[in-house]
Amino acid sequence: MREIEEIGDVEKRYEVLGTVGCGGQGDLFLGRDRRSGERVALKLQKARDLGPESDFHWAGRNLLEEGSRMTLLAGIQAIPEIIASGTHRGRRCLVMEFVEGRQLQEVLLAARPVRHPGTVASVIGQLCEILWEVHARSLVHCDLKPENVIVQPDGRLRLIDMGHAIVAGERTQYERGTRGWASPEQSDACPSGLTQRADIFGLGCILLEMTVMRLPYGGLEERAERDGPVLPADRLAKLPPEFASLALWMVRWEAEDRPADVREVFDQLRPHLPRLGSRRPSKRLRPDPTEYYRTHSPRL
Ligand SMILES: Nc1ncnc2c1ncn2[C@@H]1O[C@H](COP(=O)(O)OP(=O)(O)OP(=O)(O)O)[C@@H](O)[C@H]1O
Ligand SMILES: [Mg+2]
Repeated sequence: MREIEEIGDVEKRYEVLGTVGCGGQGDLFLGRDRRSGERVALKLQKARDLGPESDFHWAGRNLLEEGSRMTLLAGIQAIPEIIASGTHRGRRCLVMEFVEGRQLQEVLLAARPVRHPGTVASVIGQLCEILWEVHARSLVHCDLKPENVIVQPDGRLRLIDMGHAIVAGERTQYERGTRGWASPEQSDACPSGLTQRADIFGLGCILLEMTVMRLPYGGLEERAERDGPVLPADRLAKLPPEFASLALWMVRWEAEDRPADVREVFDQLRPHLPRLGSRRPSKRLRPDPTEYYRTHSPRL
C-alpha cells in the first residue's frame, strides 16, 4: 500500500480559499497549491468545539483511517486521489484531488422524480462500474447516498467520502453509514462483517429516491422494521416497470436475498442504457449523466 505523504502544516504548501461543504465527519475547504496553482480539496477534522476531548481525538483518528482507505483505492479514476496528510491550526487535514461538479443530491432535487429510463440507468450504471472497482479491492463504501456522489460537468460520476468505508468481512463494532440509506446490517455492530451487498442496498435506495422519491422501510421518518412495508402502496404503484423488480431486489432486508454483486445489477440496467452516439434526452439532468454512455462503451 502506498503511504500518504505527511506534510505537517498544510498552510505552508496550500492556500486555504473557502468552504466547499460540511458533513457529519469533516469540514471541506477548497485549497490551492502555492507552487503549482493546482486546486485541492482539504478535509478537516471537525473543530474541537464544546464536545468532549475524546470526540475530537476520535475524529482525528478516523480521518487518518479514511486517508489510508483512500490509498487502497488509489488509481481508481472515479475516486478522488489522496495527495497528502497534515495539520491545519491543530486539526488533522487530508489533502485530495478537488472534484469539479455538482452533488448528485442537488442535481436530483432540481428534477425529481427522474423516471427517464436512460437517465436512471446512466446514474445507477455508472455507480455500478465504480463500485465494481471498489469491491474488487475488498472494500465496502458503506455510505452511498446522493450527497456522496459528484456529477462532473461532462456527466461522469465520481464517488467521494471514504469516511465509513471498511474492509469486507471485517467485524464492525458500531453503526455505520447514514440512516435512511444504510442497510439493516449496518445499523448495529456486525460480528461477521459487511459485504458488498450493503452497498447494493444503498444503491437501491438511490434508485428509489430518484424514481419514487422515497427511501425504503419508512426512510428517515420511521424506525426501519424487518416486516414493515418496503414502500407505501401509492409509491410502489409509481415504480417505473423497467426498474421495479430490480429496485425491490436491491433493498431486500436480508443481505443474501439481494443481487450478489454490482454486475448482476448492471446486467438488468444494460437494456436501458443510452446507445453510443445517441442524442441527448429532451428532459435531462444538468450535468447530464447519460452523456457518459452516449460517448463511452460500458465497462462491465
Ligand atoms: N474531493 C472533493 N472535491 C470536491 N468536493 C468535495 C470533495 N470531497 C468532499 N466534497 C464536498 O464536501 C462535502 C462533504 O464531504 P464528505 O462527504 O467527504 O464529508 P463527511 O463529513 O464525511 O460527510 P458525511 O456527512 O457524509 O459523513 C461533500 O458532500 C462534497 O460536496
Ligand atoms: Mg459525505
